[in-house]
Amino acid sequence: ISSTGSVQKDCSSVTPPYSSLIRNLKTVRDILGDRPLTLAEKILYSHIHAPQKSLVNGRLVRGETYLQLSPERVAMQDASAQLQFMSAGLAKCAVPVSIHCDHLIQAVNGAASDLERSIISNKEVFDFLESAARKYGIEFWRPGSGIIHQIVLENYAAPGMLMLGTDSHTPNAGGLGMLAIGVGGADAVDAMTGTPWELKAPEVVGIHLTGKLNGWATPKDLILHLAGKLTVRGGTGRILEYFGPGVADQSCTGLATIANMGAEVGATTSTFPYSANMRAYLEKTGRAPVARAADEAAAQGFLSADKDAEYDEVIEINLSELEPTINGPFTPDLATPISAFGKFIEKEGWKDEFSAGLIGSCTNSSYQDMTSVADLARQAKAAGLTTKVPFLCTPGSEQIRATMERDNLTSALEEVGATVLANACGPCIGQWKREDQTDSENAILTSFNRNFKSRNDGNRLTMNFLASPTIVTAMSFSGKLSFNPITDSIPLPSGELFKFSPPTSQDLPSAGFAAGDLSYYPAPSPAPQPDTEIVVRKDSQRLELLEPFGSHFGPDSGNPRGLELPELRVLLRVRGKCTTDHISAAGPWLKYKGHLTNISENLLITAVNDEGGEVNIAFDHDHDASQSSTDTIPGVAKRFKARKQPWALIVDDNYGEGSAREHAALQPRFYGCSMIIARSFARIHETNLKKQGVLPLWFVDKSDYNRIGSGDKLETIGLEDLLNGVPDAGIRVKVTKLDGEVFEIPTRHTMSTDQLHWLRYGSALNYIRRQLS
Ligand code: F3S
Repeated sequence: ISSTGSVQKDCSSVTPPYSSLIRNLKTVRDILGDRPLTLAEKILYSHIHAPQKSLVNGRLVRGETYLQLSPERVAMQDASAQLQFMSAGLAKCAVPVSIHCDHLIQAVNGAASDLERSIISNKEVFDFLESAARKYGIEFWRPGSGIIHQIVLENYAAPGMLMLGTDSHTPNAGGLGMLAIGVGGADAVDAMTGTPWELKAPEVVGIHLTGKLNGWATPKDLILHLAGKLTVRGGTGRILEYFGPGVADQSCTGLATIANMGAEVGATTSTFPYSANMRAYLEKTGRAPVARAADEAAAQGFLSADKDAEYDEVIEINLSELEPTINGPFTPDLATPISAFGKFIEKEGWKDEFSAGLIGSCTNSSYQDMTSVADLARQAKAAGLTTKVPFLCTPGSEQIRATMERDNLTSALEEVGATVLANACGPCIGQWKREDQTDSENAILTSFNRNFKSRNDGNRLTMNFLASPTIVTAMSFSGKLSFNPITDSIPLPSGELFKFSPPTSQDLPSAGFAAGDLSYYPAPSPAPQPDTEIVVRKDSQRLELLEPFGSHFGPDSGNPRGLELPELRVLLRVRGKCTTDHISAAGPWLKYKGHLTNISENLLITAVNDEGGEVNIAFDHDHDASQSSTDTIPGVAKRFKARKQPWALIVDDNYGEGSAREHAALQPRFYGCSMIIARSFARIHETNLKKQGVLPLWFVDKSDYNRIGSGDKLETIGLEDLLNGVPDAGIRVKVTKLDGEVFEIPTRHTMSTDQLHWLRYGSALNYIRRQLS
C-alpha cells in the first residue's frame, strides 16, 4: 500500500514478455515477407505458437488462415471452465488464471445486505470455486471484489498482451492496448492446459478518429453511434482497431468502454495504440513497471500499427460531430441521437416516461464516469432536485467503490436518491429483484452494454435503452424519455427552470485509487495446493461433475452411417433473433451454471418457433399415446434424449449473438443436438458449438431455411470425406420431409482440421484428454 492508500502491485506476472513477443513477431515477419502490419496483427502474430511449424506454407490470409495462438492469461467469471479443466486431469494451469465471483449477487436493497444474502445463498458454489482456485493455483476474487472486466483492467491488462476471458465483454481490457478475447469455457481450457488456442485470423477494421469529443458526448456515445452503423453483425470475424488523432485524447477507461461494447457488434475484440493516458492509468493502478516495459516495447514499434498498414475497411468518425446517442430497445444497434429521441418515442407511441435509471456495470463505472455523474448530482442537488425514478449505481470494483466513497462521489449520488449496489454485475445480468413492473410494459435507461428482452429484470416487456452514464443520470431527474438535458430544462417548485451544465469529470483520482477492503485482493500467482479437496456433493442441485459427451463415430458409437452423422430429426425452426440469452436465459437460472442437468431446463425457453410463432413451444411428431404432440422446447428435447434420438435445429441469422455463454452450446448437446443449420452464426457461439461436438452448418441459399421444419429427417452427405481429409469437401444435407418429399440442400462449414477432431471425438475436451493421455 502506498502513502496515498493505493495498492502497488507485484508486476512480475502481469508484464508481457515483450522481448520474446517481439522476437516471435520478427520470425513471423520473416516468413510473411516484410509487409506493414496493423497493431492487431502485431499482437496476434507475436503470440503465434511455433510460427515456423504453423505457418509452413508462408501464407497468412486474414479471414482465412487458422492461427495457433498462445494466450498469456485467462480470466473466468464464476463457474465457467473449472469443471471442464478438472476433467482434463492436470495438477496446475499452464498460464496465470483468475476467477471472479460477480454474476451471482442479486440486487435487492443495497450493497451490504445484498452481498451478505447472496454469499449465503450461493455458498456451495463459492466454496467450490475457492477450493478449485486453491488446488490449481488460481487467483480468486471473492464475491464483492468487483466485476471481472474492471478487475482485469485494474490488475492484469497490459499493452500488447493476448488474453482470453470466459465472458463476451472481455474485450474491455482492450482499453489498455491489448487483445482480450471473449470465449467459452472450452477455449479457456485450451489456454489453461497449454494447448495452442485456435482462431481464424480476423479481418481488421480501422476506425479512424478525428476531432474532439465535446459537451455531453462521451466515449460511450462513440460506440453507441458505431453500433448503429455496423449493426450487431458488422464486427463478426473482425477486430476493430482504432487509430488517428482522436485516440490519444481519450482516457484509458473511456477506451475500455468503447472496447467493451465492441462485443455488441460481434467484433472478436477491439484495440488502440499505446498512449500517454494508458501509461498514466497503469501508474495510477500501481503498475509503473508495466508502463516502463511498455514504453520500451512501444519505442521498438510494437504497440502501434506500421505506417501504411492496410485495413480491410476504414470507418471515419469525426468526434467533434458526435452527439449523445440512445440505443434500443431490445437491440444495441438501434441508435438514435438524443436530439431525435423524443420524436422517436412519440412516433412509436410509447409512453413518455421511464421507470428506473441504472448506471455503472463493467461498461461504465470508471472514476471518470463517476466524477461526471457526481457533478450532475451536485448540480441537481443545488437546485433542490432528487431523482424522479429509482436510480441504481453499480461500482465495478472494490477499488472504484472505495475511491468513490473517499472522494465524496458516493455521498453526492446518495444525496439525490441513488442506491449504491454491491460491486458485482447485479441488474446488468438479470440479478435484480424488482418488485415493481414485473409484467407490465415499461422503459428503463441504463449505462450498461446489452439490452435484449428480459435481460435486466426478467420482464419481456421492459424496454431497456442504453446511454452514457451522464445522460442516464441527467434524465433520471426528469423521468421523461423525451427530456434532452442539452437543450431542455426541469421546472422547479419555485417556478424557475433548472438546466444542467455539461458535466465535468476527472480521468484519474489525484490522490490515487483507494484500495478499500484488502481482504478482497488475492495473493499474486499463488502456488497450487494439490491436496485441496474439491467438494461436489452427489445430491447437489447447484454443482454436477461433467460426464464426457459421447462420439457419433467409431466402433462403439452404434451409428450405422459410419463417418456421416446418424439420421437426425429437426426439433425446431427458430425464428429471428436468437441470442445466447434466448438459448440459455440468465437471471435466476445463473445459479445452476455448475449443474448442467438443472440449467438445461431453460433451453431456448424464450425462442420463437417459426412454425406458429409461439414462444417455447415445440412439436413432437413421434409422441406416444400418453404424450401430447406439443410441449415446451426443453420438454421435447428431453423426449428426444430419452429416445436416444439425435436432433438438429434450423436457425436464422446471427444465431447465438450476445454473450459468450457456453451453456448455450452445452445444453443442446446435453439433450442430443448434433447439428445446427443457420442462415449465419455469431463467432463465439459457433466456436462453442464446435467445441462441444455439435456441427454448425451455414445455408448456402438462405431461403432453404423455410424448406425445413420440425420432424423432418436430415442426413449429412460429404462429412465422411471431410473427416477423411479430402480438401475442400463440402457437406450437403438430404432432407426427408414428414410427407415423404426428399431433396438435398448445399451447406457450407467453417471447420478447421483441429475442429474436425473435436467433432470426431465428441468434444474438444475429449480430444484434449486424448492428447494429454
Ligand atoms: Fe457483468 Fe454485465 Fe459486465 S453481466 S460482466 S456487468 S456485461
